[in-house]
Amino acid sequence: MKTFTVWNHKGGVGKTSLTSLLSLYLSETSRKVLMIDLDSQESLTSGFLEENETRKTVYDWLIGKAKIKDCIEEVNSNLSILSGSLLVSKIQNSVNQSVIRRDLKT
Ligand SMILES: Nc1ncnc2c1ncn2[C@@H]1O[C@H](COP(=O)(O)OP(=O)(O)OP(=O)(O)O)[C@@H](O)[C@H]1O
Ligand SMILES: [Mg+2]
Repeated sequence: MKTFTVWNHKGGVGKTSLTSLLSLYLSETSRKVLMIDLDSQESLTSGFLEENETRKTVYDWLIGKAKIKDCIEEVNSNLSILSGSLLVSKIQNSVNQSVIRRDLKT
């Protein structure tokens, strides 16, 4: 498994565009891709999924309220997304790294 992180403090520099296009390219060339939207703006998620206020999100996983597999939505057979949430802004300085390491096997 390869993990790519697209991160930059600066706004509007193409983070979401790069993540979308790279994920689409990899999935269309037969790689299985899981996108993880950790930005509380949820732009990556809204680019791939209809709005749904009852959906389980990356926030539910990070606070231990849901299992990771229950928070993943399939976009197509090679592409899935762990959807973002505005609520991530509440916990961004206190994310439990051990949950991430355990569930993503990094
Ligand atoms: N390579 C590019 N060339 C020209 N315009 C681009 C390119 N990549 C992205 N853009 C445009 O720049 C704008 C910002 O892109 P994007 O939303 O991907 O940035 P971002 O870093 O995710 O922003 P934010 O900090 O708000 O999340 C969008 O209007 C997008 O269409
Ligand atoms: Mg963005």
